Amino acid sequence: MGHFIPLSIPNLNGNEEKYVVEAVRSQWVSTAGGSIKEFEEKFGAYLGMDTACACQSGSAGLHLCLRHFGVGPEDIVLVPTLTFVATVNAVMYQSATPVFFDCDEHLCMDAKQIQTYIDARCTFAQGALTETESGKTVKAIVPVHVFGDLCDMDAIMDIAEKYHLVVIEDATEALGSVVSHGRYAGKQAGTIAHASVFSFNGNKIITTGGGGMVVSNDPATVEHIRYLSQQAKDDVMYFVHEEYGYNYRMTNLQAALGLAQLEQLEGFLETKRKNYALYQSLLKDDPTGTILPFGAEQANDWFYSFCLHTPSAEKRDALLQYLNQNQVQVRPIWKLNHLQTPFRGYFAMPTPKAEDFYARIVNLPCSTNLSEEDVRAVCTLIGAFA
Ligand SMILES: Cc1ncc(COP(=O)(O)O)c(C=O)c1O
Repeated sequence: MGHFIPLSIPNLNGNEEKYVVEAVRSQWVSTAGGSIKEFEEKFGAYLGMDTACACQSGSAGLHLCLRHFGVGPEDIVLVPTLTFVATVNAVMYQSATPVFFDCDEHLCMDAKQIQTYIDARCTFAQGALTETESGKTVKAIVPVHVFGDLCDMDAIMDIAEKYHLVVIEDATEALGSVVSHGRYAGKQAGTIAHASVFSFNGNKIITTGGGGMVVSNDPATVEHIRYLSQQAKDDVMYFVHEEYGYNYRMTNLQAALGLAQLEQLEGFLETKRKNYALYQSLLKDDPTGTILPFGAEQANDWFYSFCLHTPSAEKRDALLQYLNQNQVQVRPIWKLNHLQTPFRGYFAMPTPKAEDFYARIVNLPCSTNLSEEDVRAVCTLIGAFA
């Protein structure tokens, strides 16, 4: 039996230790300090955005965005059912109502189905979109770039403009993904919507241990989100607060890690690209499954996670068991959110594609320090399973 191959782990072989030690020695370890500003500036510059706000997690970032745009108990937020639960939880934190959508062949929220929902269930009058049955206002869409593949942002932004909706890109998994076609061609994931959120959790492309970043083309949006993330302090001397806020600011220690990770981003992306291509070529003729996407037009050239689409749920389960027993850590994709206990009472559009992907996908190891030998070992095992 070979050595253990994890699913997705941090890669900390650059200046991480040096920068964190420097932060410790400077005594600036909490939510103030030079590394936070520097990380925000460098991260923003990488995306070509003027402003960015570093926060404690992607989840916190999503919550801050919804709060900033005034999403509340009388509002509906459109979300994909195929996403990590954090996307939906952020809607719940604002006591708003999620409505769930299917995915397209890129695993991302089906933009066409949003129009179908609006046509069938909503009315648009006086600049507001209202769900006829509940009387609630459809306020926002949170498209998720699942595993770094990209949503159809052309269609989503068109709908948003037509019906006056806010769009918040959940780009937590999409750092480095670039749009390949349409009017946003050449733009990075997370630079298109009214605001976007990235995650630096331990399993993400770069990590700060835990952390997130909100970016927007509107500096006032980022400024207000930063204010909310720091307990909405209007006067730091006399503790004056004109709004209620959160303790969501990133720490200087996390930002120090982030700066070291950012220096290595291009190399990390290159490893992902190479490993994706290697998985695809080694598993090309394997009956156990196909690496997504199916050679269709790709929305981008990089993938955060590698999905093996197996022929059936039974095959998926058997393969999950086989690989995990053989020291290769693999997982199914997330259980669909509209079927999760806290969200069962909310409306969902039909979800045939998401159900199919959920039943048949196995996520393969994708760390940025995954070697070519590791990829070959995983594929050899998959071949043996067949
Ligand atoms: C799609 C998606 N949304 C939101 C999050 C939340 O990010 P975080 O773990 O930084 O809170 C994650 C990652 O964990 C994610 O994968």
